[in-house]
Amino acid sequence: MKILAIESSCDETAAAVVEDGRKILSNIIATQVEEHKLYGGVVPEIASRRHCESIVGVTDEALAAAGLALHEIDAVAVTYAPGLIGALLVGVNFAKGLAFAAGKPLIPVHHIKGHIAANYIAHPELEPPYICLAASGGHSQIMRVESYTRYSTVGRTLDDAAGEAFDKAARAMGFPYPGGVYIDKASKRGDSTKYRLPRPHTAEPYDFSFSGLKTNVINLVHNAAQKGEEIDIDSLAASFQYTVADILTSKFVAAASDLGYKTAALAGGVAANSGLRSLLEERCAERGITLYIPPIGLCGDNAAMIGSQAFFEYTEAKAVADLSLNAAASMPLTLE
Ligand code: KG4
Ligand code: ZN
Repeated sequence: MKILAIESSCDETAAAVVEDGRKILSNIIATQVEEHKLYGGVVPEIASRRHCESIVGVTDEALAAAGLALHEIDAVAVTYAPGLIGALLVGVNFAKGLAFAAGKPLIPVHHIKGHIAANYIAHPELEPPYICLAASGGHSQIMRVESYTRYSTVGRTLDDAAGEAFDKAARAMGFPYPGGVYIDKASKRGDSTKYRLPRPHTAEPYDFSFSGLKTNVINLVHNAAQKGEEIDIDSLAASFQYTVADILTSKFVAAASDLGYKTAALAGGVAANSGLRSLLEERCAERGITLYIPPIGLCGDNAAMIGSQAFFEYTEAKAVADLSLNAAASMPLTLE
């Protein structure tokens, strides 16, 4: 089954063709990041306009790169939630029109489920059940992946998502948007033990809280500036990255062990972080847990992951939308 997938939830306009949930036939991404960088973050109105401008070309390119005409695909999939509402609406309305015109089923996909599915493309042997840590700009969640379309939440962030904390701490350190990748690069030159940063306590053992840690970094930078003291930015980046990676890893590995999982996966934009990848790999190996991580190119937003999840939504959950499908800015991953 060949699915044409569209993704426009934030600042990448993306289209891909994926076969049977596991094989990428094409994967096209038009990023707007340089424009949003000017404003220090995503400007929703600009994002919507750029999606409108790019979506036809990106989709044509995805079909051409797959060597397929529209009538040769079996279904159209689209990210319908969560994300920036105006940005999502561009993809949803475009996908609706395309599915209607081509007479193909329309499959709605939850963005974070898509991030998780990036692992199915990269690791053909991965099958549920397993435990997953999804960490992106808007989400940080540990969940049981019970089947390809059923999940239950084990822990979640009580405030900022990990990616959001990376981006806000990075801004205080003087890095451009989106700062996660700049912290990652600077960390390689720094000493991660130089700055002692707080590890916020949470009442539930597998929940996260990053807002206090982020504020601590912002205050540290501002206080130093007021006193005219030098900050070793590389070491602050390394200390911050290690602290976030350690919090995520400790809680995730504890949850996996306590709940008896021997298979685990990492997903979302923050899965690209080198410190998190290596710490998780090390600690999962110590406990005999097999860890799956997508390649860096499939960690950030893309439509291939949406095309992968769509296959399972269609075949396992029979999820097909009609033309009343709407976008939603927020949408829980699980029903409880
Ligand atoms: O999944 P994603 O591309 O978009 C959302 O769905 O939010 O995640 C974007 C987030 C941003 O906060 C970005 O800074 C972060 O992922 N990110 C990273 C790295 N690459 C991307 N954070 C830390 N280290 C990285 N290498
Ligand atoms: Zn994302």
